Amino acid sequence: MTDAVLTARPGHALVGRARAPGDKSMSHRALLLGALAKGVTEIEGLLEGEDVLNTAKAMRGFGATVDQLGEGRWRVEGQGGFSEPSDVIDCGNAGTGVRLIMGAAAGFDLSTTFTGDASLRGRPMGRVLTPLGLMGASWMGRSGGRLPLTLKGGNLKSIAYRLPMASAQVKSAVLLAGLHAEDGVEVQEPEPTRDHTERMLRAFGVSVDVTDTPDARIVRLGAGQSLTGTRVRAPGDPSSAAFPIVAALITPGSRVTIEGVMLNPLRAGIFTTLQEMGADLTIENLREESGEPVGDLTACYSALKGVEVPAERAPAMIDEYPILAVAAAFATGTTIMRGIGEMRVKESDRIALMANGLKACGVDIEEEPEGMIVHGSGQPPKGAARITTKGDHRIAMSHLVLGLAAQSAVTVDEPEMIATSFPTFHSLMAELGADIRA
Ligand code: S3P
Repeated sequence: MTDAVLTARPGHALVGRARAPGDKSMSHRALLLGALAKGVTEIEGLLEGEDVLNTAKAMRGFGATVDQLGEGRWRVEGQGGFSEPSDVIDCGNAGTGVRLIMGAAAGFDLSTTFTGDASLRGRPMGRVLTPLGLMGASWMGRSGGRLPLTLKGGNLKSIAYRLPMASAQVKSAVLLAGLHAEDGVEVQEPEPTRDHTERMLRAFGVSVDVTDTPDARIVRLGAGQSLTGTRVRAPGDPSSAAFPIVAALITPGSRVTIEGVMLNPLRAGIFTTLQEMGADLTIENLREESGEPVGDLTACYSALKGVEVPAERAPAMIDEYPILAVAAAFATGTTIMRGIGEMRVKESDRIALMANGLKACGVDIEEEPEGMIVHGSGQPPKGAARITTKGDHRIAMSHLVLGLAAQSAVTVDEPEMIATSFPTFHSLMAELGADIRA
């Protein structure tokens, strides 16, 4: 942690076109599946944020050759499996990185010690260790299933696992371990979550069976399947695109186009919700890239109104509630966000930090155990606050966006953490006309 801060000042319309950085979820998976595969995988559009760079380093630790060929262009040569790392695997701030890698590593007869930064060491790993334990992996570490811990895998049994929470990370960890289970694996999801692992496994030649029943979505992976290196292109990250888009919606005179945004229906809940709030947000040039729907999004300043977000939409926008709460602060009327308890175990307790931060900016927000309710006055909130982000990139970016359209400037601490997911946030926003300065 440093003493650095960033301050966003109001008074400038955002105008122009930009490309969102590559999708973080797909970038982690592309490196990981490339390392598990036999042969060469070429990746384009890889997010070069710190979370993903830590996954690249981890894959080298497991024996893959991982090289950067150019901006966003990476080459991974896998050995068709993992070998035992000679050092600790440090995933930094990345929950997705560590949970998916633990799942993949559990498939092999090797011991790996995992750690991360202070935020990651405080996050629950039991949600992954429980199913991996049922499959036969074992682990030793701190009580409560926190990092650092040492995981021992190999000789896995097959399981049919019903997810106790809507988590693509847990689903993915079980599927990746299941690649090496004696008779495959089944994951039941009461609420469907992002399906990039399933889609990308198919691109690497693995057959994945998905069935919808009235009770759950069932994902099955047959035994004895191997991965073959391929080409992957990561489209723009909708979670990152949401920041300039909301900034344009709340800043008078703005018109911004973000090109090449991934619009997988299990990720695009934020855009549906903004449209329901009355946002002038249009999608053009809808196409497919690497098996994912992609489009160009144009957002113009809009008079937003409060809405109730259906709780069942939460998995499709779980990382976007902080920036949605900012949009809601500028809307007229009440925005109700419920069924979002998972926000409390992200990089920070995002419900608590958004409630504190928005209150400090003069917003009328109520905090619930698993929800947030924002009463928007239809006027810009006062701003004029210094926000404690607890090192959470999305808390920092959300409050900076608020500061661009508030009555007075907003300052955030630990701005260096923005580089975990959106290293070009500052320059992209500046190119659109935003006044964000150290
Ligand atoms: C992710 C899944 C989500 C999300 C995270 C990325 C993924 O976490 O919050 O940023 O890539 O699988 P959960 O699976 O814990 O909901």
